[in-house]
Amino acid sequence: VQDALQAGPLAGKHVIVTSGPTHEPIDPVRYIANRSSGAQGTALARALAGLGAKVTFVTGPASVPPPEGVTVVRVETAAQMLGAVQAALPADAAVFAAAVADWRVQNAAQHKMKKDGSGQPPALQFAENPDILATVSQMQAGRPRLVVGFAAETEKVLDHATAKRLRKGCDWIVANDVSPETGIMGGDENAVTLITDKGAESWPRTGKDMVARRLAERIAEALA
Ligand code: CTP
Ligand code: CA
Repeated sequence: VQDALQAGPLAGKHVIVTSGPTHEPIDPVRYIANRSSGAQGTALARALAGLGAKVTFVTGPASVPPPEGVTVVRVETAAQMLGAVQAALPADAAVFAAAVADWRVQNAAQHKMKKDGSGQPPALQFAENPDILATVSQMQAGRPRLVVGFAAETEKVLDHATAKRLRKGCDWIVANDVSPETGIMGGDENAVTLITDKGAESWPRTGKDMVARRLAERIAEALA
């Protein structure tokens, strides 16, 4: 069984995958989140494991269960996600499919916030979260050979995603249009464009599991 599990083009390779949303606390009972289900990251981790990779799956509170056959590290916040990724290194490849909250609440309360009767809502102050993809992409030593980011955009998808690839320093960006009319955010399908140093390649809209398999195969080719 062990030999069967380790067969495949990614046998002996370690791949880190981040997935799901992050939750950023406001107080002990409330948080800020986003609509990511974790479906694409989960499908990708499953596909990579299916090709024989040793996968560390760092996941925020997702609405789909993690795949079998991977090492699952559960986190809530972006800061915890960065810590978990750093703890999982070194890796041959890292794929950042998580929808990381861009901001955390700087003045999160230690106790449940109460209405004070004045009718004035509380003022939340935000601080920018660490950029996990950029941090790993720009590592001076021990950088994974292949670093892949996602770019969920609602307009000018290719322009924003191409700029994002250069700004963050990752090798590939998987771009997708998550504007509400596409129904992609939280759905079963995805339509992505793979952006590499060679240019942009649009893939037909299909199930997230098929997108994952295709991407996993490309990752295997790149690491071969
Ligand atoms: N990402 C990350 N850490 C963050 C923010 C984003 O690792 N704090 C990763 C995501 O997992 C994704 C990629 O960066 O792979 C792009 O995320 P996205 O939200 O599209 O990019 P941002 O740089 O946050 O830009 P934007 O202002 O468009 O949200
Ligand atoms: Ca963002």
